[in-house]
Amino acid sequence: MSLLFQPIQFGSLTLNNKIVIAPMCQYSATEVGEVTYWHEQQWANYALSGAGLCIVEATAVQAQGRISYTDVGLWNDTQRDQIKALLAKVRTLSPMPFAVQLAHAGRKASTDKPWEGKGQIAPNEALGWQTVSASEIAFNPTDHVPHALSKAEIQKVIADFASAAKRAVDAGFQLIEIHGAHGYLLHQFMSPLSNHREDEYGGSFENRIRLTLEVFQAIKHAVPEDYPVGIRISATDWMDHQDAWNLESSVGLAKALEQLGAVYIHVSSGGLHVQQDIKIGANYQVPFAKVIKENVNVPVITVGLITEVEQAEQILQEGEADAIGLARAMLYDPRWPWHAAAQLGENIAIAPQYLRCQPHGLKALFKAYT
Ligand SMILES: Cc1cc2nc3c(=O)[nH]c(=O)nc-3n(C[C@H](O)[C@H](O)[C@H](O)COP(=O)(O)O)c2cc1C
Repeated sequence: MSLLFQPIQFGSLTLNNKIVIAPMCQYSATEVGEVTYWHEQQWANYALSGAGLCIVEATAVQAQGRISYTDVGLWNDTQRDQIKALLAKVRTLSPMPFAVQLAHAGRKASTDKPWEGKGQIAPNEALGWQTVSASEIAFNPTDHVPHALSKAEIQKVIADFASAAKRAVDAGFQLIEIHGAHGYLLHQFMSPLSNHREDEYGGSFENRIRLTLEVFQAIKHAVPEDYPVGIRISATDWMDHQDAWNLESSVGLAKALEQLGAVYIHVSSGGLHVQQDIKIGANYQVPFAKVIKENVNVPVITVGLITEVEQAEQILQEGEADAIGLARAMLYDPRWPWHAAAQLGENIAIAPQYLRCQPHGLKALFKAYT
């Protein structure tokens, strides 16, 4: 029996299998952060995939926290109501749980859609705005300099994460993931390369992780007791020749978050510095997940260039992670979990409308939802 198709518990939420659809921005929301028909087809596709959980794209807690003017937001009730209506529709397709990734892009905000290739939009240009960060240090030398958040503005960011979390629960998401990775605002506070503050939010490790811990706690207070909250982190800045965020910092952060009640640690890496020296390849982030797993008791999700079924199963068999995050592979092959079940000799619950497409020779592959 495979491990990939065993259930897993993220706090109070049970997943039918260990395949997690990793968050992927679609740059397809309206300019006021509302979901569109693109999200409808996208989420429906995810719902029919057979995965254990889908974490939908980075969803901004403030308008200025969007990566681009086409990001989804949860900073107002209209956005919540439209997501709620969409989730109600996709629920009619399958019982797969949906999670949201709550995010603030900080200094990496105010960009164009990636396929336009224009990068950051200046505050005085159409569809651009002034970005914010821990310190007045731009990500790209060509970016505009971010405004360093005052302490009052930091409190507003924390409060807005909490309000967005409340809306996420009301909209029907079954889990919240905090985006603490990829060089976005929380990561900008955590890394000494982007945080040169001299107040209690900068300097020591404890000070640099303070914002992330406060956001986590504020969210926990805003959602019902036992509502699952996980976090995605960048395990390293890939800047080891400098005083940067590294695996040791991530272990410390993961332990602190576990104590506060994080139901999982989702281990990605990088995104903070343009000179990052990434050793990219299959499983390239798995060793980080493994070390973090050795230091916490909550489940650890690994992600990054995991594309093959045997590869995913092997990671679990080796005990290097507890669940497998898949991003691009799920876009390329939205029925990846069906094919994985076939390859591993498992059976998988699918929508009854599809039961008759079971391939010849695999007559025990599909079962109806229970
Ligand atoms: C189109 C696209 C959009 C992404 N958007 C997000 C996002 O919203 N939040 C996030 O944490 N990571 C995002 N990522 C990163 C993925 O979640 C994932 O960590 C990365 O692609 C590596 O996994 P993969 O090799 O399975 O694709 C995105 C990746 C892609 C390809």
